[in-house]
Amino acid sequence: MAGRQPRLSRRGFLAASGAALLGAAVAGSAGNAAPGPEAVRLGDFWLFGRYDDGCTELGFDELDLAPVQLPHCVTPLSWTGWDPASWQDRWVYRRHFTASPGERRTARFDGVMTDAEVHLNGRLVATHHGGYLPFEVELPDVVAGDNVLAVVVDGRWALDVPPNLPRSPGPSVIDFYQPAGIYRPATIAAVPRIRLTDVFARPVDVLSPGRSLHLTCTLDAPVVGQVTASVRQAGRELAHGAAPVRGKTVEFDVTGLDAVRLWDVEDPALCDVVVTVRSGLRVLDQRVVRTGFRDARFTTEGFFLNGRRLKLFGLNRHQWYPFAGGALPDRAQRRDAEILRRELNCTMVRCSHYPQSTAFLDACDELGLLVWEEIPGWGHIGDDAWQRQNLSDVAGMVIRDRNHPSIIVWGTRVNEANGTTAMYGRTGTVARRLDPSRPTSGALASTTAAHYAGADIEILAYNDYTARRGAQFQLRPPRPGVPYLVTETIGTLAGARAYRRTDTPAAREQQAELHAKAHDLAAADDRYCGLLAWCAFDYPSGWQRSLGGLKYAGVSDIFRIPKPAAAFYASQVDPAVRPVIEPGFAWDFTAQPAGPGRPATIWSNCDRLLLFLDNRPAGEARSRRADFPHLRYPPFAADLTVQKGRRPQLRIDGYVGNHLVTSRQFSGDRSTDVLTCIPDDPELKADGTDATRVVVAARDQFGTIRAATPGVVTLELNGPATLIGETSLDFTATGGAAAVWIRPSPGPQATLTLTANHNILGTATATVHAKPGPAAKGNPPEELGGHPVA
Ligand code: GAL
Repeated sequence: MAGRQPRLSRRGFLAASGAALLGAAVAGSAGNAAPGPEAVRLGDFWLFGRYDDGCTELGFDELDLAPVQLPHCVTPLSWTGWDPASWQDRWVYRRHFTASPGERRTARFDGVMTDAEVHLNGRLVATHHGGYLPFEVELPDVVAGDNVLAVVVDGRWALDVPPNLPRSPGPSVIDFYQPAGIYRPATIAAVPRIRLTDVFARPVDVLSPGRSLHLTCTLDAPVVGQVTASVRQAGRELAHGAAPVRGKTVEFDVTGLDAVRLWDVEDPALCDVVVTVRSGLRVLDQRVVRTGFRDARFTTEGFFLNGRRLKLFGLNRHQWYPFAGGALPDRAQRRDAEILRRELNCTMVRCSHYPQSTAFLDACDELGLLVWEEIPGWGHIGDDAWQRQNLSDVAGMVIRDRNHPSIIVWGTRVNEANGTTAMYGRTGTVARRLDPSRPTSGALASTTAAHYAGADIEILAYNDYTARRGAQFQLRPPRPGVPYLVTETIGTLAGARAYRRTDTPAAREQQAELHAKAHDLAAADDRYCGLLAWCAFDYPSGWQRSLGGLKYAGVSDIFRIPKPAAAFYASQVDPAVRPVIEPGFAWDFTAQPAGPGRPATIWSNCDRLLLFLDNRPAGEARSRRADFPHLRYPPFAADLTVQKGRRPQLRIDGYVGNHLVTSRQFSGDRSTDVLTCIPDDPELKADGTDATRVVVAARDQFGTIRAATPGVVTLELNGPATLIGETSLDFTATGGAAAVWIRPSPGPQATLTLTANHNILGTATATVHAKPGPAAKGNPPEELGGHPVA
């Protein structure tokens, strides 16, 4: 677990950290951009413990503090059964550093849950409220030699900051837990005396050849000089512009951008904008921001991207992981975007219900995954102070993220909370003033006119739980006169109470059917801009219909391992890109001696599926087009009733036209099952701030997860790394598969091995190489999809 490393004495710790810092020249950390490459990531060498009197003082005795690495969660967590009492307290993080005095220096925190006080050398230098937005701190009194940054983190629910509510019964009044900690990256940088605090690069008239880029540049002190901007794509300058600056802000347009490649979900072409501020010949500051040219329009007739109709197909994402809370490094955050875009074929994600990590949003930009981003909150409105914080969250979110081309809506209302029109008028106005290029909205629990009155509702976004358990699934029809988007549906409010691999086959299949039905209904009517179902991943919660502190509403589990409902999403892709065959059933004869029976559903994008039992023809699956008239790729049904006592091998061949494009086999013989231990990435950075997931699973001999595998897997990690996870995984509870994360320690090149052992299935090993410097790209997704025929 993060935070459970061997303890260093204070002296040993100081010796280790003395080598760490600094030497930065120019850094670019401010409201809307990640820090520049010269900023030093404060990932390692923190000391951590419970708040104690004097813990912010320079000379505090640190013997009782434990060395930890960021991102970090204040409490050890399991994959389930989280106890909010374990993080609801005050904590302290201390970081020693050396730096030459006289330079201007700042520290930036990407996310501290929930409130933070920052002290430098015993002096309070900043406070921050709220766990989801970054803040930057000037470090005015850096001294020669040892300096101490001490951050007091307050993780109590009683704070008056959204989504928390001071006078409520506690964290279970909202539907997600929020463990405390410095749970996103932190950096420290030497910065210029006068610097760019913000650059907003706003594409204008994107679809016309006369398109331009409107730049708003903000400095932290008045300057008499010039600002230049160079717009580059694929390493080539497309256009540049310049304007004189007399003061702290300057706005100007860069024109001549007719050659720009537009950003699209299929071709997410990005641009870099290099902004330089000069006074005479002297460069005062330089900042590179990334943007993309795209035209996104919500209309009463549907959604249009770059003038082309696109039915938004997506899911909601919570940011919580097993073991670490929110505190997994950037690579894991990016991986969620890859799963959504490349494995689940989503074109849109809703960041429910707060601004998510910059790494996740960067990946959305790079992968072509459109984003709804919203302010922190859930179902309740607090007092005046709370509402003021709400307003400041709108500003913080828009300023941080308005250069992301993937973001197409600002959610400026609190999810499903009936604030006043005046309050939401203010939040909407703040967003539109800071960014006139995107619509504002808020996810509503009702579509009655009173709820969507207000200029801030530019899209009527409805969390449609009209179809409750047992009822036939339906969606409410779009309302006339306003663009209409379904921002949630299904969850665990339609169908079963929980969707786990350990639940009945009927429950698991039902989740897939419901998601397919919802998207089919949305596809049937052009007035739906699209549908974002609830939700991508299981998440921690103590609210209604949670079980043991988890909400099992995800189409993938909390380990990001797909369930049958994910198979529906996986199948919605052109077979030329990826031919897919995914059964909605388990080919297993323990609980179902006559097999899955009929009709068994197979999710596929092929034209035809031929079935074989023990390699003998067993007929053809029939298309379920009649059940899903509007899906691009409807599933198939087959009669898979097997004579009791037989456990044949199933083969499914997939054809597009007359071509066999994919084939999959499934074993009914559990005696040939194996244990696998598969890392997402073969290579990681050995800098303490990187981590990869390793999926540990029982599989049949062809690679399909065998959910009904009981027993416990024990894990052993060798090499200089931390295991983010437990050394024993209960397959009986998780359904034959789970995951942990490996986080290399800072240091030289090393080989890390994770060995997993199951009492029946034997041993499997994952090997990961940790290297100083930039790491290699990740493995291709491998949990879902067919295996192309050679
Ligand atoms: C919605 C809410 C979601 C989630 C869901 C549960 O009302 O917006 O956050 O709680 O219910 O299925």
